[in-house]
Amino acid sequence: MSTTHHWWQSVVVYQIYPRSFQDSDGDGIGDLPGITSRLDYLAWLGVDAIWLSPIFPSPMADFGYDVADYTGIDPCFGTMDDFDQLLAAAHARGIKLLLDLVPNHTSDEHPWFRQSRNSRNNPYRDWYIWRDPAPTGGPPNNWLSHFGGPAWSFDAATGQYYLHLFDPRQPDLNWRNPAVRAAIYDVMRFWLRKGVDGFRIDVIWMLIKHPDLPDNPPDPDWTPARPPQQRLLRVYDQHQPEVHAVIRQLRAVADEFADRVLIGEIYKPVEDLVSYYGAELDEVHLPFNFNLVTLPAWSAAAVRDLVERYEALLPPGAWPNWVLGNHDQPRIASRLGQPLARLAQMLLLTLRGTPTLYYGDEIGMEDVPIPPERVVDPQGLRAPGHGRDPERTPMQWDRSPGAGFTHGEPWLPLAADAAVRNVELQRTDPHSMLTLTRHLLALRRASPALNIGRYRTVAVRETHVFAYLRSRGPEDLLVALNFGDTPCQLDLSHLAAQGSIAASTGMDRSGRVELAALALRPHEGLVVALHEG
Ligand code: GLC
Ligand code: MG
Repeated sequence: MSTTHHWWQSVVVYQIYPRSFQDSDGDGIGDLPGITSRLDYLAWLGVDAIWLSPIFPSPMADFGYDVADYTGIDPCFGTMDDFDQLLAAAHARGIKLLLDLVPNHTSDEHPWFRQSRNSRNNPYRDWYIWRDPAPTGGPPNNWLSHFGGPAWSFDAATGQYYLHLFDPRQPDLNWRNPAVRAAIYDVMRFWLRKGVDGFRIDVIWMLIKHPDLPDNPPDPDWTPARPPQQRLLRVYDQHQPEVHAVIRQLRAVADEFADRVLIGEIYKPVEDLVSYYGAELDEVHLPFNFNLVTLPAWSAAAVRDLVERYEALLPPGAWPNWVLGNHDQPRIASRLGQPLARLAQMLLLTLRGTPTLYYGDEIGMEDVPIPPERVVDPQGLRAPGHGRDPERTPMQWDRSPGAGFTHGEPWLPLAADAAVRNVELQRTDPHSMLTLTRHLLALRRASPALNIGRYRTVAVRETHVFAYLRSRGPEDLLVALNFGDTPCQLDLSHLAAQGSIAASTGMDRSGRVELAALALRPHEGLVVALHEG
């Protein structure tokens, strides 16, 4: 790679779900002044970029992913002054701030949609996707909403259906309409002019639909164990060739400003994902790589295969990225268990590419069971058992009754283990997940090899071990991860005779090791600085 690199290549991004990070006014909902008050924690942790899930005025049908005003702040989160203070305070600490841009759909309460549904002749009619009923009656095609049920709702007043790939209260914008594009580009400019460092762009691969809106074919692999809305293959409602031209325009807007970044939400296998860098690296800087999240089975072989395929497919000059969790996915500690979650954290923070950390994963927060009467996620309301509330519960700061999150009644229940799994306790525990995460972040920052160095797989005989080298200049770091539940001993003497342990997942090993007999405990990961000669 070239010797210059951009800030977004060497940062660690930390995703904040604003409702759940820190409440400052006791209404049980996290807010912007709350986030500002926790910036010192983030700086202490070693995070240098934060991405906020949506903070804009919203009826909260999808907790902010239904935007009613793209250039305001929802009162539950605070005011524009609060936002300006947060941005300034983050920048004062060298922390970049990314916002969540939701261009695929608005709230049904957005003024554009209110106009659009008014009459078939309204100038805003074509800002959304309206169609007549099918000749036999019913929706125009068989598309399904990601939250369940048809992707079309009938509007009796004007006798047509409108398209919504998510909740009926989230009508899809018509991105084939240049006026829609211009309006969203101006929204971007509004925030970029304020000084935000970029955007995470919601469902960017869905912006353009097939012009003829054909029926989607059935998925032959679907089984009733999966949610009913997954029974069709999403062939025509996403990932259309024309979406790339739109993304190039989004990028051009970001490029009107110096040094901004676009991260695109794209759930696709690596083979398709890499197309979103753009033929000339002129689309998103970082097409979010969710493949560690969607991996069907978590094993050394599966992870190694994924990393190698991705590394091989990246276009020249394209920068990789990795993530383990977010507000839409079960928590990593619940998916894998605590020991493997530590191993996964070491993986995330030592692979080549920009990592994104989901709030709370640094203390191993787990999914919180939500009693049926407290389910609020639109997906959970439609498909019981498939909701996203469990991974959105309040951050566990300390052992006080509100876990340091709120003095009021939290909008989602606190974890039952908040009194024993929290920042206050883990901060002073030398072996905690928090201490491990902070240590890995510091190591990454101090080590050019980890930060921007090359990646190379190290072949090992042990099938439960994934090992690789990160190198830059004279620095060689070996990462060896034992996914298995039995101990093992590796002979890696061909790499070097000796090394020094730079990190261990248990935060309990240090000193020199002989590479001819590198011992790994069950589920243990090591970072070893190789000695020369
Ligand atoms: C993205 C968001 C998710 C939201 C959906 C619709 O996938 O991450 O939370 O429900 O888009 O905006
Ligand atoms: Mg509040």
